[in-house]
Amino acid sequence: MNVDAARLTEQLETLARFSDAPAPAVTRVVYTQADLDARAYLKTLIAEVGLSVREDALGNLFARWEGQGSTLAAVATGSHIDAIPFSGRFDGTVGVLGGLEAIRALKTSGFRPRRSLELILFTAEEPTRFGVGCFGSRALAGVLTPDALAALKGEDGLSVLEAARQAEFVGDANKVKLEPGHYHAFAELHIEQGPRLEAAGVPIGVVSAIAAPATLHVTLTGAGGHAGAVLMRDRRDALTSGAEIALAVEAAALTTGTPDSVATVGVFDVHPRAVNSIPGRVFLTVDVRDTDLARRDGMVTRIQEDIEAISQKRGIEVVVEVLNADPPATCAPDIIEAAHAAAAGEGLAAKTLVSRAYHDTLFMARVCPVGMIFIPSQNGYSHRPDEYSSPEEITQGVRVLARTLAALAE
Ligand code: GLV
Ligand code: MN
Ligand code: MN
Repeated sequence: MNVDAARLTEQLETLARFSDAPAPAVTRVVYTQADLDARAYLKTLIAEVGLSVREDALGNLFARWEGQGSTLAAVATGSHIDAIPFSGRFDGTVGVLGGLEAIRALKTSGFRPRRSLELILFTAEEPTRFGVGCFGSRALAGVLTPDALAALKGEDGLSVLEAARQAEFVGDANKVKLEPGHYHAFAELHIEQGPRLEAAGVPIGVVSAIAAPATLHVTLTGAGGHAGAVLMRDRRDALTSGAEIALAVEAAALTTGTPDSVATVGVFDVHPRAVNSIPGRVFLTVDVRDTDLARRDGMVTRIQEDIEAISQKRGIEVVVEVLNADPPATCAPDIIEAAHAAAAGEGLAAKTLVSRAYHDTLFMARVCPVGMIFIPSQNGYSHRPDEYSSPEEITQGVRVLARTLAALAE
């Protein structure tokens, strides 16, 4: 198969330049100019490969190579190109540019698929701007309705639909949801974002399931005041309450008895943020995940109870919003098998593993049978500027993806 490592490396480098952070860091938040410029670049590459493009009201993009049996449901691949603040260049982009390279390689090899092949660029896998991850694929799966998209707002007060419109995605929000049977199968290529493949010395991961994520937004309101004049006994400090909550979040994950439980406070905003002023208000986010749904739900419940107890003890007003609490997804046995066969066909060792990170595949699983192919991440690093997978590792992943897609499209 004609997978071109140099071309793909150059495309990944070029894409990384569309960023609001200085290199090597990448920041590319949905619907910002950096995101729109990166999309325009991707479209020039898609045009080179000769695929037809459809975009929906959210900017989800579908690039199609028509199969010989064009009435059959298509096989799709793809991922995201948005990047969280100060992250790296491979998360998501490997699945988009690698997916395009896989299709290009299949085309130039003379392969003619029976089913059409589509590359999907999912809008906003990352939760940075609107709080929930994967709003593009959530909407494709009907998990987020047009009404919910109109109500979901970022810090600037714009809703998803308003921001999409400003970015000149003008389609009908009622037509985003995919009908059952729309796709025959979906397979996503992604970096592992963890250390297991590297540790095992195995170049290919075949994902069996994706862990269940949940997100909470917590707003704490105490009383601000003068850092010198207000006595300790009279304080209602929102920051120290938030700090106690952050420790409770950590404890909730540490005490389930399994390393599969993780919980993170990633945003902690303090108001008014002044040296000599008692913090009167704090906003924080809680990200909770587990491979087991009941255990994840147990953590969420415990965290909510702890937030309530800590706030009451400290005389703090609290508002907790559960933004999402999604079930895990299971990959389809025949796609798992196809990916293993593809790896074997390339002479590459493969290992079955669970994805601890979420992906658009989590929501595509509600639309059609799904699978995922992982490649190693150096040191297991991801969501940081030194995230790295080598050109060889990426190319191997693309080859396995191409073979998998070819098998699914037969
Ligand atoms: C995706 O970026 C995730 O947070 O798992
Ligand atoms: Mn990510
Ligand atoms: Mn990703």
